[in-house]
Amino acid sequence: MSLVDDARAVRENAHAPYSNFKVGAALRTASGAVYVGCNVENVAYPEGTCAEAGAIAAMVAAGETRFIEAAVIADSPLPVSPCGGCRQKLAEFGAGDVVVTLATMDGARQDITLAELLPGAFTQDYMERS
Ligand code: THU
Repeated sequence: MSLVDDARAVRENAHAPYSNFKVGAALRTASGAVYVGCNVENVAYPEGTCAEAGAIAAMVAAGETRFIEAAVIADSPLPVSPCGGCRQKLAEFGAGDVVVTLATMDGARQDITLAELLPGAFTQDYMERS
């Protein structure tokens, strides 16, 4: 099963009654483990969380902190684009050359690296004088 298949499967569990936009995300680590997440919305809208954040939380809870491959899927006309906050969250746990596959339910795919998703990312290097 590909990482996109993992993301597609967990997308079914998304709690998205307000946007009706279900998203699934999957991360693969060097150990070969796959961690998945879906968006979890809330009636207090800003309290909702993205699929990518859920997958990251599952990875960290399992004791891993680096992923080597990622996939995100939604029923969108174009391969779903991670929001700005999720780009920063992903950058925390993956190298710049890590490939993220953005996918649609129709089968469209776009491969993009973390560095391309978040050029000029804020990193710990900027905190060197603190
Ligand atoms: N969403 C994600 O989970 N990931 C993305 O990459 C884009 C947006 C969610 C947040 C919200 O629940 C819904 O999609 C509509 O914005």
